[in-house]
Amino acid sequence: MQRDSWGSRIGFVLAAAGSAIGLGTVWRLPYVAGEQGGGLFFFIFIILLMTVGTSLLLAEFVLGRSTKEGAIEAYRKIAPKGQWHLIGIIGMVASFLLLSFYSVVGGWITTYFVRSFSGNVTNPPDGDHFALFTQITSNPWEIGIAHLAFMVMTILVVQMGIKKGIEKASVYMMPALFVIFLILMIRSLTLDGASEGVLYFLQPDFSAVTGETFLFALGQAFFSLSLGVSVMVTYSSYLDRNTSLPSSAWSVVLLSVLIAIMAGLAIFPAIYAFDMQPDQGPMLIFTVIPAVFGQLAFGEVFFFLFMLLMLFATLTSAFSLLEIIVTPLIRGREHLRKRMTWIVGLLIFAMGIPSNLSYSLLSETYFFGMIFFDAVDYLVSNILLPLGALLISLFVAYKMKKRDLKDELLRGSNFRQGFYSIWLLMIRFITPLCIIVVFFYLIFG
Ligand code: PHE
Repeated sequence: MQRDSWGSRIGFVLAAAGSAIGLGTVWRLPYVAGEQGGGLFFFIFIILLMTVGTSLLLAEFVLGRSTKEGAIEAYRKIAPKGQWHLIGIIGMVASFLLLSFYSVVGGWITTYFVRSFSGNVTNPPDGDHFALFTQITSNPWEIGIAHLAFMVMTILVVQMGIKKGIEKASVYMMPALFVIFLILMIRSLTLDGASEGVLYFLQPDFSAVTGETFLFALGQAFFSLSLGVSVMVTYSSYLDRNTSLPSSAWSVVLLSVLIAIMAGLAIFPAIYAFDMQPDQGPMLIFTVIPAVFGQLAFGEVFFFLFMLLMLFATLTSAFSLLEIIVTPLIRGREHLRKRMTWIVGLLIFAMGIPSNLSYSLLSETYFFGMIFFDAVDYLVSNILLPLGALLISLFVAYKMKKRDLKDELLRGSNFRQGFYSIWLLMIRFITPLCIIVVFFYLIFG
């Protein structure tokens, strides 16, 4: 049986952008930007995304496409001796853990999405949105079923394969996501008093920018582009030889930036227009947003659209996190895909249960001083992801042959020698150095 592949370049770009654009990008990024100096943070973030982020994205693309293998074999093929394939294993473990709690939030979104049909999410009986959120997340049954439902949706798509599953779903979901954001953004920006929200999010605040801001922006840049866990190695391994990697990478980066800005412009103006404060942390989309929509004409419709869009964003990232584990297990034997996808997907669901219960039965149980959900998040985001990113960058820069690197990077593209030289400089020195700095900061800072 033949190894699966993408049906078109646009399909690949949309799937990769779908992986990149997730909770981290549409929700966390605008929120952090608001706190960390507004427009200036965004500016720094975009610069880092286009330099350090893009070079690492290209490194993952080059490795994946040149080997046409998933997370483990790609490393083995380049360096048969030694334990380099551990980089792939780190990526698989990190993705497993990341999806275990990502799918919990996916479950919350699923519940809110279903509940949005009844309209009592935007206008709860006693008017208290926070109480409603606590009530929902502390009910293990409702939240458990929603969590399972989210995981099953992810499995159903991934088991259909690259072209018929992930690509097909992304080709519908990503444009829909864009259109919904556009509608919400226009609605939000045309409210009375919207400008204050635009200022909060985009006005440069020089006093809020410190050394920390750079580190925040860099960590966010890697997370936003799904780097460090071999997701992009996996996706590009299904790509044909003649697609230009640099232009695909630019497309993914530009789409991510565009959506992040649209997200900020859809969320903050609406919050300020109704005199609310965007300071609820992770709860914002479940407490402040429904409250805002509750005051709008046709608020239920807008809220429904908002949850649909969150669902699409979260799902397309979840596909990539499951696929990176399935690919090395089936190694091109597509007849094994269905079974493997179900097994791995259900194991991830099981692993997510304690994260889900962190808000009810396990809310008093601490691991390293954190509830289970936060402990897993910490391990993945602050340790496994940066470690993986560092190792991938060094691996591609020093273990692959220069000639192969250049050939793979430039094939099918209009970019020339100069671009290659800059990229090589980036992945050899600048990118690893930046990651080491962030790493130390995240752990000891
Ligand atoms: N990029 C995703 C987001 O912004 C998260 C992610 C990280 C997905 C790593 C896959 C791999 O939410």
